[in-house]
Amino acid sequence: MKIIEQTKYEKLFSTPLFRFQATDPIKLNRELLDEGRRLRAASEGVSKSNRGGWHSPGNLFAETVPCIEKLRTMAEAAVLEATAKVSSKFDPQSFRLKTFAWMNANPSGGFNAPHTHPGAHWSGVYYVSQPEVETGSSGQIEFLDPRSDLPNWRMLKAPAFNAKKAIRPEPGELILFPSYLVHWVYPNETDEERVTIAFNATFRPLK
Ligand SMILES: [Fe+2]
Repeated sequence: MKIIEQTKYEKLFSTPLFRFQATDPIKLNRELLDEGRRLRAASEGVSKSNRGGWHSPGNLFAETVPCIEKLRTMAEAAVLEATAKVSSKFDPQSFRLKTFAWMNANPSGGFNAPHTHPGAHWSGVYYVSQPEVETGSSGQIEFLDPRSDLPNWRMLKAPAFNAKKAIRPEPGELILFPSYLVHWVYPNETDEERVTIAFNATFRPLK
């Protein structure tokens, strides 16, 4: 017979990570790659957390091209769905959703150093092309535990207390996480380019 019963279990201070999948990504990804090539021919790009490769300048979501507009609509839908999932008290109607996006082309050897996206609520990445790999960590994005180090808890082998979490999304996937979360991208060890579109999403009160 049980001598004590659990009455409540709360996940305090947890960090949400969402994954979405575009329902029909083949044509969209082809168009996004074409658009990327066009933009790349027109700009040398800028240097941010990327090491090697190309980072588009300005706000990609300001481009009035159907494939970019489609992706922006998808990103906004994902942000609203994720926000509703983490909060039942937030009314998006009282806010304007501001988004800012850029394209990353990560060639062989290219990677992204650990960073956060200060000032935004949500950050996301849409995977346009991802090299095929059998082994190794090419194309993985890794998230680091934002809490102070928890060495004593790691031995419990509980996912909630892990120091890091790496995932390798497929083309057509969109991932979404709070912008405070430190993340980085493993070096691309293949000969193919890895192309992603990253974005920040911020809610601003309506005036
Ligand atoms: Fe990032």
